[in-house]
Amino acid sequence: MNKQKLKCIECGSSFPMDKVRYFCDCLGLLEVEQDIKALKDLGTKLFDERLSSFHAYDQSGVWRFREAILDIPLHDIQTHKEGRTSLYESTRVANFCSHENLRIKHEGQNPSGSFKDRGMTVAVSQAVRLNMKRLACASTGNTSSSLAAYAALSGLESFVFLPDGKISSGKLSQALGYGATCIAVDGDFDEAMGFVKKLAEEELIYMVNSLNPFRLEGQKSIIWDILQELEWNSPDWIIVPGGNLGNTSAFGKAIKEAYEAGWIEKKPRIACIQASGANPFYSAYKASFKSFKAVKAETVATAIRIGNPVNYLKAIKVIEYTNGVVSEVSEEEILEAKIEVDSSGIGCEPASACSVAGLKKLKKEGVIKNEESVVCILTGNILKDPEVVMEHHSGSFKKINSDYESIKNLL
Ligand code: F0G
Repeated sequence: MNKQKLKCIECGSSFPMDKVRYFCDCLGLLEVEQDIKALKDLGTKLFDERLSSFHAYDQSGVWRFREAILDIPLHDIQTHKEGRTSLYESTRVANFCSHENLRIKHEGQNPSGSFKDRGMTVAVSQAVRLNMKRLACASTGNTSSSLAAYAALSGLESFVFLPDGKISSGKLSQALGYGATCIAVDGDFDEAMGFVKKLAEEELIYMVNSLNPFRLEGQKSIIWDILQELEWNSPDWIIVPGGNLGNTSAFGKAIKEAYEAGWIEKKPRIACIQASGANPFYSAYKASFKSFKAVKAETVATAIRIGNPVNYLKAIKVIEYTNGVVSEVSEEEILEAKIEVDSSGIGCEPASACSVAGLKKLKKEGVIKNEESVVCILTGNILKDPEVVMEHHSGSFKKINSDYESIKNLL
């Protein structure tokens, strides 16, 4: 039995799991504390056995690890069988990065097209357990699509707060289609987040942004899924785009728990990559985390257009614990990497390409060495942001007279 509780990352106070709470009384962020001894006793064999199961909870790449995520009655679990995502090898992308030992984990293959589903299945299951009826988030698009999909599955109401005019059509149409109430905020993501926090404080909604510690418990499974596919052998590096820093925080927690439980013998290092137009974490890293300054964010990678990441304090601990690094990539580097990932037949949305652009840069700088193994995370699907693709490829769309001779002449 894994005795889980909510714990403040600053002062260590603990709180019960069955009451709504997002912050400690000292305003510190909360996390779900796992019982490491229970994880040790559990081992990894049970997870491996579940790979051949036909049971929905075992087929989910999140709930396959359920004992180490959330102790919840099975009937409260809300799953779309998320987390069945590929670990690719691509010669083309490897050549682009000048790094042979590369794998690519495509979280854009989740049911709503991004990694958010891994966190959302857990947050919405917890909402069901707590008997919440109205769920809400601020979003640059993917969290809103994911929330809308899981709220629809569970018969709950969803409200999503989006920066007006800054959401790609793929994401907005998903949230509308799944039935969320979509609210365009005259401001950026950080302002939308402020409204949702206020509504949550007044207990008018249940907040499922990554400030909600249950979201991060689900996102840990990205790491465990990779480790399992590598037969519990750690890669040297895991590279992830950074926006609100939920993934970075969840990845560090997953590595720490796996390492302390003896599931792995070595800690992978985390490289968190930001867009240079939305880089407060990178700037803080450069200042040895002695100071933090929020920025007014602007980037083509709209998913990570975030200037004041809510998980900043958790993410610092991860970079320190994993001996990780933070870097930034320019708009040109993001688009160049995206074109390469798309042209390899794998495809991703612009924010996702930060991981690949980041590898290219860190390799060139000598931070990542030739012999080291790397996993780049692609966070969202190519279909999420059709505008960027169409703009880039407008010249390759050939209009012709529709007669057979003209068509033949194209070949
Ligand atoms: N990549 C994509 C495709 C995203 O949608 C996000 C975040 C990130 C990376 C950054 O992840 O916040 O864990 O550092 N999108 C959020 C949203 C903010 O609202 O969809 P992070």
